[in-house]
Amino acid sequence: MQIPSHIAHDRIRDFDIYQPLREGLDFHHSWKALQDSDVPDVIWTPRNGGHWLVLRGRLVERVLSDYSCFSSHTVLVPKETAGVAYRLLPLSLDPPKHAPFRKLLTSGLSPQAVTRVEDRIRALTVSLIEGFQAQGQCNFTHDFAEQLPIRIFMQIVDLPEGDMPRLKYLADQFTRPDGSLTFPQVRQLFHEYIAPVVTARRGGEGADMLSRMINGEVNGRALTDDEAANLCIQVLVGGLDTVVNFMGFVMLFLAENPGERAMLASAPERIRLATNELARRFPLVVVGREVRTDMEFEGVKLKQGEMVVAPTPLHGLDETENANPFHVDFERGEARHSSFGSGSHTCPGAHLARTEVRILLEEWLARIPDFQVAPGFKVEYTGGIVGSVNELRLVWQVPGHAARPLSR
Ligand code: HEM
Repeated sequence: MQIPSHIAHDRIRDFDIYQPLREGLDFHHSWKALQDSDVPDVIWTPRNGGHWLVLRGRLVERVLSDYSCFSSHTVLVPKETAGVAYRLLPLSLDPPKHAPFRKLLTSGLSPQAVTRVEDRIRALTVSLIEGFQAQGQCNFTHDFAEQLPIRIFMQIVDLPEGDMPRLKYLADQFTRPDGSLTFPQVRQLFHEYIAPVVTARRGGEGADMLSRMINGEVNGRALTDDEAANLCIQVLVGGLDTVVNFMGFVMLFLAENPGERAMLASAPERIRLATNELARRFPLVVVGREVRTDMEFEGVKLKQGEMVVAPTPLHGLDETENANPFHVDFERGEARHSSFGSGSHTCPGAHLARTEVRILLEEWLARIPDFQVAPGFKVEYTGGIVGSVNELRLVWQVPGHAARPLSR
């Protein structure tokens, strides 16, 4: 592509946020390698329509939260395709317009609302684990991570479990597109799915999260059908993919680190706080903002309408924010990160996500305190708006059965 004339040569790097992986490195070390390479803190890449990238934690936090300079009208690149297709609610609105729409979804995800489903989360967690515990092995991704958060979420929004594969596929095409659909097609298919749900629940008495959003008010008026659909799609995209992938990274870490595994297994009361350190160490989300007006920023000229991508992995893993950032330190006092965002759009699902991971660790470690990656299994990753461990196969010893070879 033509490189705009205001972009200095020393700022240009060829980097594709959808293909960040470097040979031999995992998702997080690949992003970190960009931060550690000899580049300025703000660079520009011609990929994905051409956009800026900030590479330091303080800048990630600033870009995500300073809406006076950086608008969330567009959060994905390429701006003209993914960005336009992803203009959902409330993410695409800046304060003060953002608040009344956000209010419609926060009550369904509040700590009180999560407490109401905690027993169900625990019961499903236990039944999934006990379903494969005696086998001494599982495909963690398929048998657990793609089951628990999605099934709980489908209950919260009162959609049939049978729709899970279709919705998960669509959510994945926004966050890690495999080329099978264009961004406008993903948006269209989401709309075709959700429009009849909006119609059916409009005016109803349903207590589920979608019904309450659809029948809510903004500034004293009812939502339009389009607004209701855009809110619902945002919640579906946020809820269907992120926790699944976060769990994959956490369990891979514990499978490979016996010391940390033993520490949490022997002191389960530490798991609650540990989830914050795990969120710092395993950030997944890579989103951006649109520049509001021409401005000087960290020594570069930004032009109105340009995109600035703020990769959350580069906040928690920035050593100027957290000493020894790759070390998971459950004693770390303050873990600084933007793993759940920063500012007015900070993830409203964070409490649900942390609760699900906490319960997973409590119930798993009580039953399977020792486990490893299956011998010979090669762990692979995919980058994108939400990074992922593609698949994770785990093994453990079952008392009374012949010991499995446990090392990789
Ligand atoms: C580990 C799990 C999760 C991670 C890492 C995560 C991360 C994030 C991040 C970084 C943002 C901010 C995006 C931005 O500023 O542009 C965000 C926003 C959002 N997330 Fe999450 N999320 C997670 C789980 C969830 C869940 C379970 C739900 C819903 C059930 C959810 C729903 C949302 C919504 C609706 C927004 C937009 C909020 C707004 O615009 O005010 N997320 N999330």
